[in-house]
Amino acid sequence: MKVRPNILVIDDEEEFLECVRDIFGKWGYEIDTAITGYEGLQRMSLYHYDLILLDVIMPLINGIETLKRIRKTDRNVAVIVLTADGRVDTAVQAMKSGAYDYVTKPVDWNKLKVILKNAMTIRSLRKKVDRLQNQLRNKYENANIIGSGPKMREVYQSLDRVIDSNVTVIIRGESGTGKELLARAIHFNGHRKEMPFVAVNCAAIPETLLESELFGHEKGSFTGAIFKRVGKFEQAHRGTIFLDEIGEMSKPTQAKILRALQEKRIERVGGNTNIDVDVRVLSATNKNLEDEIKKGNFREDLYYRLSVYPVQLPPLRERREDIPQLVAFFLDKFNKRMRRKVKSVSDRALEHLMNYNWPGNVRELENILERSMLNCAGEMLLPEHLPIIVSAYEINSLADNFHIDFQKAIALARNVPAWDDVEKEVCRLALKLTNRNISEAAVRLGIGRTTLYRKLKKYDLFI
Ligand SMILES: Nc1ncnc2c1ncn2[C@@H]1O[C@H](COP(=O)(O)OP(=O)(O)OP(=O)(O)O)[C@@H](O)[C@H]1O
Ligand SMILES: [Mg+2]
Repeated sequence: MKVRPNILVIDDEEEFLECVRDIFGKWGYEIDTAITGYEGLQRMSLYHYDLILLDVIMPLINGIETLKRIRKTDRNVAVIVLTADGRVDTAVQAMKSGAYDYVTKPVDWNKLKVILKNAMTIRSLRKKVDRLQNQLRNKYENANIIGSGPKMREVYQSLDRVIDSNVTVIIRGESGTGKELLARAIHFNGHRKEMPFVAVNCAAIPETLLESELFGHEKGSFTGAIFKRVGKFEQAHRGTIFLDEIGEMSKPTQAKILRALQEKRIERVGGNTNIDVDVRVLSATNKNLEDEIKKGNFREDLYYRLSVYPVQLPPLRERREDIPQLVAFFLDKFNKRMRRKVKSVSDRALEHLMNYNWPGNVRELENILERSMLNCAGEMLLPEHLPIIVSAYEINSLADNFHIDFQKAIALARNVPAWDDVEKEVCRLALKLTNRNISEAAVRLGIGRTTLYRKLKKYDLFI
């Protein structure tokens, strides 16, 4: 039998509790009720709940105070707050204290049904991640590669076949997906782990220095070569060389690398002896090498040499299930580094992080969390600590779909503190999408023409 999600409703109105019991029961939830904050907290210490519906206006301890105490006992449970119509201030206060959402009384049951469903989805995701986190302690996690969802498991499985061999692996994936991290994990889990891992960033070294950097040079071989230098290939002898950003290599360098790989020996610049090198080659690129070959920028023969075993790292937006785990990992990392005590992320903030598109992938997530934690003095990261770009994703996606619904945008963005920024962005997008046709933009936005005029003036959008 499927376990029904368990909800605790705290409200001092008996009639309302009756009604909720009836309706929630029909929706397939298990219900428990309490008529004071104290009773609710007591129940929480005895039973486990997936979600709490909490009235703000109650005698003895009010809802906000109860919410704060709930947060102290269970950081993860989703709390939906019931407020009186028109009391925006209490709603804001509740969100700040870590509520997942709020609903005004009299309750719009359809709306509540949707909110409950979303909250439950996030909740079950969290649980799943916790479970996996406890289970999965494999070598990749030891290498600090976070992610145990299906996409990353596929990556680990395919790597397992070659990790302990000398097979040449090429890691492909968008920027910030963790290619370098994975290259290190391959080396440090294979039989060469005691030997050197040498990374070469092919994009960062000037063309004139690359040859000497890779293969070394003899003393006096060119002006400035005062000492003999051992190149990267030689340094990596019996270990691994990681050629990063290979899509950026010039054609002459490609030719030299190809020769070194084919012959397994190198010659220092200005030298006349060949030196045998035994290296495992790993490489990475975020470029589409097939296209580069067609354009004549990349040698096909080198491409075949390097791509014996290709591994594709998925972009973060295709493995969103790993986001909670990554967030927990980075929170921990930055708490230690910045001496903060941010213990958790509110459900709503997590929802924003889950839905944002992450063009810069894990690196972007890492940077954004670091910045957001600087804004957060308390123990819980809230939507207002996140940069506007992350919280406004829904508005951007609305605009992308060409159906801007201004009222909906307002509703969605009500948790975004810098509301003016969002409103300005919505107006700007509406103008862009309608080729600056103000009447059409007003219709699309669902507001009057004069109202739009006023807003455009306010935001200085008349150009
Ligand atoms: N799965 C992951 N778990 C934890 N941290 C990760 C993960 N993937 C990436 N990172 C972190 O994200 C940042 C970027 O990773 P990395 O440099 O490996 O990406 P990349 O694919 O090489 O990016 P680029 O193409 O821009 O060079 C690093 O700080 C890395 O530690
Ligand atoms: Mg990289």
